[in-house]
Amino acid sequence: MISLGPVVQAWSPKQPNPFFGLNYSAGESEAANYGTAFYPGQSFIQNILLARPTPTLWPMNTTSPPHIAFIGGGNMASAIIGGLIRQGMTADQFTVVEPFGETAAKLKTAFGISALPAAEPALAQADLVVWAVKPQVFAEAATPVSPHTGAALHLSVAAGIRTDSIRRWLGNERVVRSMPNTPALVGQGITGLFSCPAVSVNDRRLVEQVICTTGQYVWVENEAQLDAVTALSGSGPAYVFYFLEAMTEAGTGMGLTTEQARQLAVATFSGAAALAGASSEPLEVLRQRVTSKGGTTHAAITAMEMAQIKPAFVQAMQAAEQRARELGDEFGKA
Ligand SMILES: NC(=O)c1ccc[n+]([C@@H]2O[C@H](COP(=O)([O-])OP(=O)(O)OC[C@H]3O[C@@H](n4cnc5c(N)ncnc54)[C@H](OP(=O)(O)O)[C@@H]3O)[C@@H](O)[C@H]2O)c1
Repeated sequence: MISLGPVVQAWSPKQPNPFFGLNYSAGESEAANYGTAFYPGQSFIQNILLARPTPTLWPMNTTSPPHIAFIGGGNMASAIIGGLIRQGMTADQFTVVEPFGETAAKLKTAFGISALPAAEPALAQADLVVWAVKPQVFAEAATPVSPHTGAALHLSVAAGIRTDSIRRWLGNERVVRSMPNTPALVGQGITGLFSCPAVSVNDRRLVEQVICTTGQYVWVENEAQLDAVTALSGSGPAYVFYFLEAMTEAGTGMGLTTEQARQLAVATFSGAAALAGASSEPLEVLRQRVTSKGGTTHAAITAMEMAQIKPAFVQAMQAAEQRARELGDEFGKA
């Protein structure tokens, strides 16, 4: 576990997070303290055993802890800041630019951070600048920030904005682009990461330490693969919710209450995902193991095959990938 000195923790993970209105269970918060993904269905000890070793919080060749600036202090920024504070970072290690007063007030209450309403020279102390604004306002937000952050490493969590646009807007080559997903808000996200050639190994380690507070991560070798990440894990939570809706609807139609059907559907998804995550066997084998010939699951899978659910699903994801490419083109025009 990383220890960075006294923990200033205005928001405890066991209290409802004022940003998301959600609660972490004890197991989740403990696992989050270890900077790892939380594995549903596993005990706290099993979660620690399943955990990847986490890198140190700043590059080996620097002696002082990093100062991290956030441009935009909304949901995504709060998920990351909350994770870093749980790992021991303190409010004075962050500078946040957040023009929206209500969001700034939440940052103060949750983390004791006084956000700046606009960019100012204080940003120059940042080792890392995290871009957590909506894609549509990235270019506009970059103009007042870039004069102060020439020496920093930049990490964008903004969906769809390509690194050539970011490098152009910031006049800086040290850029990492990421594609998180919404379970990041409860510490169970997965993020695709791409780094530009000027980004060093130490830079990548710092980014990993920041991103792992929101869950797992995967590096991709070329930037176009982030469109596939967008189509798979970026948009993926919506696919899961869609299936959950269908399963809940079907369960209700079969006589369960909505609450029972929802609980059964959600637990089935998280349980099956945990089983797949803990196994190295092909997914097809896992499926076949619960599909005995002539049984109930076999009847359901046969119906899905006849309805061509799998090819329709592949086609849907291809549409998402295509749309990600188009949005990248649109956002990059500025
Ligand atoms: N939430 C997720 O799980 C998730 C997942 C994948 C990717 N992302 C990406 O993460 C980015 C942030 O998403 P979010 O959900 O955190 O959005 P959000 O909650 O709306 O936060 C963005 C914040 O940035 C502020 N802002 C607007 N213009 C600004 C400027 N010029 N300078 C500084 N701050 C400015 C916004 O204020 P106003 O409200 O006044 O505009 C808002 O408070 C997006 O690009 C999104 O695509 C998020």
